[in-house]
Amino acid sequence: MALPPNFLDNIRDRISVSDVVGRKVKLTRKGHEFVGLSPFKNEKTPSFTVNDQKGFYHCFATGEHGDIFTFLMKTEGLQFMEAVEQLASQAGIEVPKATPEQQAKEKRKASLYDATETACRYYQRMLRSSEGRAALAYLKERGLSDQTIARFRLGYAPSNGEGLRSAAIGDEVEMEQLLGAGLFRKSTRGGDPYAFFRDRIIFPIADRRNRVIAFGGRFMGDAKAAGVGKYINSPDTPLFDKGRTLYNHAEARQACHDGQTLIVAEGYMDVIALAQAGFEAGVAPLGTAVTPEQIQELWKMHNLPHMSLDGDEAGQKAAGRAADRAMPILQPGKSLSFVFMPEGEDPDSLILSSGPKAFQETIDSAMPLDAFLWNREYALAPTQTPEQKADLERRVFELADQIPDETVKKHYRSAFSQRMWEAFRGQKQKKSASSRFKDNRGTIHGNAPHARTPLGRRLRQEANELSRRQQQIVLATMINHPTLFDLYEETLDRFQFDQDLDKLRAGLQKINSFVEVLDAKTVKAHLIEDGMQALLDLVLTDQVYSLARQARTDAEEQDARLLLDHMLKIRQQDEIVGELGRRNRAGLNEPSTEEETRIFAMRNDLDHGEYLIGEDGED
Ligand code: UTP
Ligand code: MN
Repeated sequence: MALPPNFLDNIRDRISVSDVVGRKVKLTRKGHEFVGLSPFKNEKTPSFTVNDQKGFYHCFATGEHGDIFTFLMKTEGLQFMEAVEQLASQAGIEVPKATPEQQAKEKRKASLYDATETACRYYQRMLRSSEGRAALAYLKERGLSDQTIARFRLGYAPSNGEGLRSAAIGDEVEMEQLLGAGLFRKSTRGGDPYAFFRDRIIFPIADRRNRVIAFGGRFMGDAKAAGVGKYINSPDTPLFDKGRTLYNHAEARQACHDGQTLIVAEGYMDVIALAQAGFEAGVAPLGTAVTPEQIQELWKMHNLPHMSLDGDEAGQKAAGRAADRAMPILQPGKSLSFVFMPEGEDPDSLILSSGPKAFQETIDSAMPLDAFLWNREYALAPTQTPEQKADLERRVFELADQIPDETVKKHYRSAFSQRMWEAFRGQKQKKSASSRFKDNRGTIHGNAPHARTPLGRRLRQEANELSRRQQQIVLATMINHPTLFDLYEETLDRFQFDQDLDKLRAGLQKINSFVEVLDAKTVKAHLIEDGMQALLDLVLTDQVYSLARQARTDAEEQDARLLLDHMLKIRQQDEIVGELGRRNRAGLNEPSTEEETRIFAMRNDLDHGEYLIGEDGED
């Protein structure tokens, strides 16, 4: 919308920079200017100045420079028009609306905000009244602190609507507004309007500017037994468009701006539990699958929203829908990441049972969108015959082809081709890949004599000892050849890293998801910056390089790549061996034909001593 000339200047005239900045930064007057610690940098000596006469701030440490509008954009993550609106209202100036109709609509909307705000306060009061005793006890029982309850403005709607009605009268809010905001409904039998939320815990839903626009209400008992919905949400109103709204949007935006990872959970309680545990950038859609509009909103806050879905089938399905909806709107640099809760858990229950660290671990092992889609399609149907393989190929390429951006599409196609190739290359290629390694001074060699005992104890024992070395090799290779990251992220996911090395893995994945073009030096610098020097020293060692010199920085990328292929194979074999052992011990029934074929092929490889790192490479 075009603003009238001088409109911004009028606001600038009325609100000084020191006023706006002063809310965030402690300023001291110094001559004509103010000085303070820069909000753009962690510093001990002030290099940040504000000049009210000139109407700007300047940070000598970072070069940041701007006025009251940019300050709010930069420090609160607002968009320009939002900064304008906020400051205009502070200055008592109305932001002009394009048309009279729009103005009328805005006015009506404004009157509805009064209704929702009145209701919100009323519900909050009721939670602290004798009527709300059970509701408050319920929230406490679920582990929420008073502070959290206040922060999310949780409330209680009594079974009778009279109280809300009188509260509204006291606030000069008309029944018309209550109806318009969805708080009351007209009786179809000619009686008085009745309250929409009755005897429920209230979760106020705010818009991106933190104005209350709607509510969710939770039934406190067994909803199924009572034959009612566990949650009901306000109907769509001029304020509330369910498919475009995110629960906790405003708070999450600020938290993202402060550097937190954006987490998309399924429910109100998840978002609240996350915030209480320190994950403040949590949002949730409102009882529906994530819509494309919501995904766009997520991307305005964060390049890589983490979809944290319940560890059940419904959660998997919801993840699938989110992935499908993201494809037609994917853009360079924007994606989704998938976080899976342990079976039967949601973020709320996981944090309650296992603590914030357990949740952080699930975040650290998030799966990128392409891997998620691939795995889903791969698991969907057998891929034994050429026709079945072709069907898989068609499905994944159809997914890639939905991407409108040519560059992103190209990379998806090549990622999927790569995965097809990895999944189905035949025995022949495998052999030739491994024979290349045999030439490397026995670094990795075949025909180790002890390897001939299939599934023998010795082998299993060795697998354990080898595991740490494998982890070191994989990490060293990835650090030294970061261009391979994208192709082999899945490899990282397959290895079970020891606790210390897993930090390095998480660090690598994090860097990879945020930085675009990478060289080994940059990766190392980032890792060191993240406090991982000691871990690097564990991995980039002569011992590791003597085991696998293809891991070195100066090795050919192609060789590094073959090495990673190789490590992946070893890992797969370990998995199979483990699985067979488990099956035997558990006396489980026969594996399926497909499994059997895979296991047979792998065993065959093991029997022939392929893909094992020999002990003689060590010294
Ligand atoms: P869940 O049933 O997973 O809710 O629904 P939850 O947040 O874990 O709830 P608790 O822990 O049992 O209190 C996820 C979300 O789906 C919507 C709500 O937004 C809820 O937060 N929902 C669920 C509804 O809208 N209606 C329902 O009947 C159930
Ligand atoms: Mn829950």
